[in-house]
This record gives sequence, C-alpha cells and structure tokens, in this order.
Amino acid sequence: MLPARTQVAIVGAGPSGLLLGALLHKAGIDHVLIERQSPGYVLGRIRAGILEQGTVNLLREAGVGHGVDNAGIVHHSIELVFKNTRHAIDVTGLTQGKVVTAYGQTELTRDLMEHRQSLGLPTVYEATDVQLQGFEGNSPSVTFHKDGVAHTLACDFIAGCDGYHGVARASVPKNAITEYEKVYPFAWLGVLADVPPVSSHAIVYANSDRGFALCSMRSMTRSRYYVQCPSTDSVNQWSDQRFWDEIRLRLDPELSQRMQTGPSIEKSMAPLRSFVAEPMRFGRLFLAGDAAHIVPPTGAKGLNLAASDVKYLSSAFIEHYVDRSTAGIDHYSQRALARIWRAERFSWWLTSLMHQFPETGAFGQKMQEAELEYLVNSPALSTSLSENYVGLPLDFAT
Ligand code: APR
Ligand code: PHB
Repeated sequence: MLPARTQVAIVGAGPSGLLLGALLHKAGIDHVLIERQSPGYVLGRIRAGILEQGTVNLLREAGVGHGVDNAGIVHHSIELVFKNTRHAIDVTGLTQGKVVTAYGQTELTRDLMEHRQSLGLPTVYEATDVQLQGFEGNSPSVTFHKDGVAHTLACDFIAGCDGYHGVARASVPKNAITEYEKVYPFAWLGVLADVPPVSSHAIVYANSDRGFALCSMRSMTRSRYYVQCPSTDSVNQWSDQRFWDEIRLRLDPELSQRMQTGPSIEKSMAPLRSFVAEPMRFGRLFLAGDAAHIVPPTGAKGLNLAASDVKYLSSAFIEHYVDRSTAGIDHYSQRALARIWRAERFSWWLTSLMHQFPETGAFGQKMQEAELEYLVNSPALSTSLSENYVGLPLDFAT
C-alpha cells in the first residue's frame, strides 16, 4: 500500500533519486520514489563510469559502497593521445594522493536498486501522467496513475530527480527559470564489448585529425570505447568492424596494435550538450542531477555532479527536519550551482580541446595540438587538469 502522505516525494529513480532516497532513509526521513519507466529500462541505459572520491565516499555513507569497493578499478593517471603519441598525466601525484574509480553507472544503479528493495522502501515504477502541484505554496503533491488507478501523494517537499526530459523542470513557470545551453556539432558513438580494456590502469583520451576517441572500461574483461562521429549518423551505419577500424586509426600505434576487438554487446549514439537551469529551487520543489544540468561526457562529470547535488539536498532536508533550520534549503541552489558551473567549464574545455570542430579546420587542430603540448609539459596546466578530473571538494567555498 502506498502512503497518501510523505515528507519528501522524489520524482525519478535514476542515480540521483535512488541515492537521495538512500540518504534520506538513513536520516529517518520518509520518502516515496515515483518513476516513469520499469527497473529494467532504467538499468538498460549505459552512461559514463568514472567516480570521484567524493562520490565514492557518499555511496559508502548511504550504505551502498560495497559494489564499488569490491569491483571498482582505481586509477591514478589519465592518458592523452595527440599527434599519434601517448602522454600520461600523473593525476594522483599532482593532487596530493587523490584517485578516481572506474565503476559503471549501470552497476551503481543496480546496487542502489537492490539496497532499496532490501529495505522495502516505497517505490512506484511505471507511473504514468506524473504531475507536480502546489509547490509554490505550502501543500505540494504529486499525482500519477499506476495500473490505471489515480493516486495523489501529499508531501512537504518534491525532489525533481527526473532527468533532462522530466516533468519537474517543465512544471516551473517559464519566467521563473533561466536556461543556458550549448549544443555541440557532433555526437559520440559508444560500444560496449567483452574484451580486456586496452589500458586498464587509465582512461585514454585521444585527439586526432579524424576526431576524438576514448578508451574506458567496466571491468578487466569488459571495455567501453567511443569515437566522435557526425550527429547525423545512425548506429546502423556503424558495423562493429567499421568501429574497430576507426578507433584504431585515432590511437597511437602501440595502443592501436594492442587493442583487442570483439562483438559489441551494446552500441549507442549520444549527443553532446552543455546545459544549466537556474535556480534549482522553486518554493518546495528542488531540482537535482540531469533535471537541472547536462555536461558533455568528456571528463565524466555528469554522475558526479548528480551526487554532489544529492549530497547538498539531503543535508538541506536533514537540517530542516532534524535541526529545524532552513539554512540548507535556502542555500541549496546557490551551493549546488557554484560547483555545477565549475564542472560545466571543465567539461566544455576538455570537449573543446579534444574534438574536431568542423568550423575551425586545420588551424583549430594546430591550436589544440599546441595547447596539448603545453598541457603535458607544464606542471601548472597538468595540475589544473588533474584537480578538476578528481573533482572539486564538496565543501569548497562559494
Ligand atoms: N515521472 C517520473 N520519472 C521520470 C519522469 C516523469 N515524468 N521523467 C523522467 N523520469 C525518470 C527517468 O525515466 C529516469 O529514470 O527520471 C529518471 C532520471 O534519471 P537520469 O536521467 O539518469 O538522471 P539522474 O538520476 O539525475 O542521473 C544523472 O545520468 O545522464 C546521466 O550523466 C548523467 O550520470 C549522470 C546521471
Ligand atoms: C565511460 O566509461 O563511459 C567514460 C569514461 C570517461 C569519460 C566518459 C565516459 O570521460
């Protein structure tokens, strides 16, 4: 039986909604999670898989750190390829010992789902016609249908964790929100394959005059690779053979030769976009994760930003219910946005540095190569890259 009333109604059961639910439960705050899709559909979405230390710590705090602790692959460096040559950046050495961990969003989402199920927390999957009401006043509610039956869930607050295409941001009056957006003139074609990663100790980012390529991993036997392609391409234009031939041409000779290939188990195209909506609070409605912002995947900041939003939002609710203070709620938007814009800048910069832009031509390529030379040879620039890559502290001053 679903309760008719809860403290926090969470809309969307992606990583943001699931993690928020786990943290609220731990603090003894009631919530109900309402999701439009089925669990299988949610798990089928393949996204980036690099976790900052702050994200790993938050998962542990929420009681869901076991998966990443058992199967995450800790990285101390990244590798940049340009002009057919590979350069390592000692990320850990340049950040006083910080690391990043390769662990897929699918695996992380599964851990969160299983945790929720084991606790028997109220979750509605395949909810239709989800609508948010009354958040500008004192009695918000979420209405939806489940199996043809209409439900109304009254609550104190609504957390809009329903992604870029969700209903939460769309429910806000247009004049109350400002949106900033940049759409990049290309896409990523991603392939998942059961082959050992070509470089298991580091993610490889390659700039080439044929376009960007990325070598990542999900485990020691499963690789995730990407190539930049025109946004107008479709997946069926890319046979496995074409993909493997193309990625090899974009890497340095050693990696290209070492790369093991095999049948793809998933292949998908992703557009690249930078997007931020301000503010992130509207009365009793709060946006978190992709509902409020999108980064291009270069640098893998999307999931980590979702985690920092959720950290700030869960702390704000805890301050409200436990300490009877509205300070966290009042500062949520400003606090989250300060970190978001820093990660937006980093993701935009790394995207601009590594991809072929049709409009900039050979001169643009030369500028990128000059900047990359400078980057790998300058401790100052390498440190700047590294400190952004491992993630800014959650509590940095705004
Ligand atoms: N009602 C209920 N749920 C909805 C609705 C709706 N109207 N619209 C969308 N949803 C659900 C989606 O089906 C999805 O499961 O909200 C969830 C949002 O999940 P994500 O899009 O994964 O967003 P988020 O949880 O913020 O995760 C951010 O995802 O895109 C990546 O890079 C990003 O890794 C980051 C992470
Ligand atoms: C991934 O593993 O899918 C991945 C890794 C690093 C990125 C982007 C995606 O920058």
